[in-house]
Amino acid sequence: MNQKIKIIIGILVIWAATLSILTVYLFVQANQLDDRVVVLEPVKLDCEIVNGKKHIYKNQCLPENYEPQVLTELSKRASWLGTYQYLDIRAKMSIEQLIVDAEKDGMCLAVVSSYRSKEEQQRLIDDAPLSHIAFPGQSEHHTGLAVDLGACPMKDGKRDDSVERLELKNPFGELLEYQWLKRNAEKYGFEESYREDNRSETGYPPEPWHWKMIVR
Ligand code: DAL
Ligand code: ZN
Repeated sequence: MNQKIKIIIGILVIWAATLSILTVYLFVQANQLDDRVVVLEPVKLDCEIVNGKKHIYKNQCLPENYEPQVLTELSKRASWLGTYQYLDIRAKMSIEQLIVDAEKDGMCLAVVSSYRSKEEQQRLIDDAPLSHIAFPGQSEHHTGLAVDLGACPMKDGKRDDSVERLELKNPFGELLEYQWLKRNAEKYGFEESYREDNRSETGYPPEPWHWKMIVR
């Protein structure tokens, strides 16, 4: 074989061998790197574990494996237009009665938010300022015992679904419906969770629309 061809073949063999060694080296490195990747755990905040029967304030949380009691769908009248709301049966019975009785007094109320899973809570956090929204696992809404109420316009003594909710034009805390709740909600077992006068205890800004049933 011609000397020149031998040299070229030699160079090609060395080049192929180098390439193979380099490929194996990079493959091994990549796999080792995979093993070394630090899995970032979600930040675990120190929280006081509570059972959800009373209120849940900032830095309090439900047990990791907490499950609400059987959730039941609210009536169409109690649920804000086009929404599907679910609550613990005790809260459902009570809030539906509250809404019926409020209507007799000329006050139109409807549930705009009720049970929320941790995933739903996370989605809210992604869309809203953190200070107003509890971390997943720390919301009263996980218990199926808490509601956010809206105030609806009425026509001829019935909910008028053709007009937007009143609190979209005026703050909920300034509505007559809120005054009615202040006077009456306790009779149905519901308490306003986050008020101005307990703000330093709750850690949340006031939410006059948010009420939680207190259970034994
Ligand atoms: N806005 C209340 C604190 C909640 O997210 O449960
Ligand atoms: Zn709420």
